[in-house]
Amino acid sequence: MSVTNVLVLNGPNLGRLGSREPDVYGSGTLDDLRAALESEAHEGLTIDLRQTNDEATLIGWLYEAVDTSSPVILNPAAFTHYSYALRDAAALVTKAGLLLVEVHISNPHAREVFRHTSVISGVATGVIAGFGFESYALALDLVARRLR
Ligand code: DQA
Repeated sequence: MSVTNVLVLNGPNLGRLGSREPDVYGSGTLDDLRAALESEAHEGLTIDLRQTNDEATLIGWLYEAVDTSSPVILNPAAFTHYSYALRDAAALVTKAGLLLVEVHISNPHAREVFRHTSVISGVATGVIAGFGFESYALALDLVARRLR
């Protein structure tokens, strides 16, 4: 059976999960998230979870997804709301016929008005938001279903 590597990409400030606004994002760290996703153990899927505060790095990882035909679970964090550069890179992924699931830990629509706009959603395959770390688990389930 062939193995598909799922890129789980996280944008700025998500490296501070655990201590960053735990009332909004919970008390789990990025390592906890990685462990939770790895324990989901979808047959034929490996998880490559990364985080960066740097827009250029995130864009480079989306190119890598295209070049390696990897599905993407993307939490663009604050870039969600204004990064047209990230949107254009995300469009390359979906235009290549690859899944790109936009995820959010919180529900941005229940928060400040500036969070109600996502410049990424229009080029994502779909969006899962508001379920804490389970947003990622649901996205991973979706990827597994689609690759079946
Ligand atoms: C977030 C929501 C964004 O508005 C915020 O800037 C983040 C995290 C989320 O996962 O809920 O950094 O993407």
